Amino acid sequence: MSNMEISSILQGGYHHPLARQWQAQRQLTKAMLMYPIFITDDPQANVPIQALPGQRRWGVDRLKEFLDPLVLKGLKSVILFGVPFNCQKDGRGTPADDPEGPVISAIRKIKELYPSVYIATDVCLCEYTSHGHCGLLHEDGTIDTEPSVERLAQVAVAYAKAGAHCVAPSDMMDGRIRAMKRALMDAGLGNKCTLMSYSAKFASALYGPFREAAGSAPSFGDRKCYQLPPNAKGLARRAVKRDTDEGADIIMVKPALPYLDIISDAAQIAPDHPLACYQVSGEYAMIVAGAEAGVYDLKTMAFEACDSMLRAGATLILTYFTPQFLDWLEV
Ligand code: PBG
Ligand code: ZN
Repeated sequence: MSNMEISSILQGGYHHPLARQWQAQRQLTKAMLMYPIFITDDPQANVPIQALPGQRRWGVDRLKEFLDPLVLKGLKSVILFGVPFNCQKDGRGTPADDPEGPVISAIRKIKELYPSVYIATDVCLCEYTSHGHCGLLHEDGTIDTEPSVERLAQVAVAYAKAGAHCVAPSDMMDGRIRAMKRALMDAGLGNKCTLMSYSAKFASALYGPFREAAGSAPSFGDRKCYQLPPNAKGLARRAVKRDTDEGADIIMVKPALPYLDIISDAAQIAPDHPLACYQVSGEYAMIVAGAEAGVYDLKTMAFEACDSMLRAGATLILTYFTPQFLDWLEV
């Protein structure tokens, strides 16, 4: 006869692998994965990105060989980032909505190749401005908010018109969600395009590999006056609230793993919206580097990180591990 208290025994509930799965409130599925991909303006490009092991810059003519096997394994959605080299960058990011530019060409191509794949596009100007900042600037280098917002809305509408299912502004200018929603509505696209806001996007050291991949580092200064301070819980909460009020369809927190408390706050502030989180380039690079250094097993760590995001409240994860998860989630 055992003298232990009945309430002491928890292990009965998770001694079996299936019973362990039942402990999750939400389990990772392929539909929750959105794959960030880099499209450059040489149509034949297939170039490894040093800082992001396993990721490449792709040209539009190579998308079929890149995506065919992934779509076969169940890839459901991508988010496109343009990496232009052969263009004239200027103060207002004119190449961002060039109809022949990499993003718009890729939208058309992917739609034609895979009509059922959901295409999101990052909307920002930093890849296209001469100064590398995410908006338009005053003479003194500070952000000029209103023309920035107007220009970003123009770019979002151009991507939506080209067929993007979702536009996702990562610029962090105040008021851009309202302006974009309004511009989409005015273009007759209010009911045809999702607006996913990078709401709580922090000024993080973890974007380094991405900036190398996309050539989007600012030529002077930093992004601390528009991306959120990493210590700022209150601002993050206000940003989530504001963006739901301004018409965002999906809320995002970025980066993900160091900001699980923010994901959890966003889930509570916007319980009626899908909640995305972006496992950013530096998080991916850290996990890969740790595995290569023998600190842990890559697959175990990748699942642990993403399960933590789901536990915090995320319903959608942007991750460079998407191709691996499409294999790992195969039973
Ligand atoms: C552009 C943008 C960045 C990321 C997504 N969109 C870089 C930045 O804000 O400097 C980061 C993504 C990543 O690190 O994987 N505004
Ligand atoms: Zn930017």
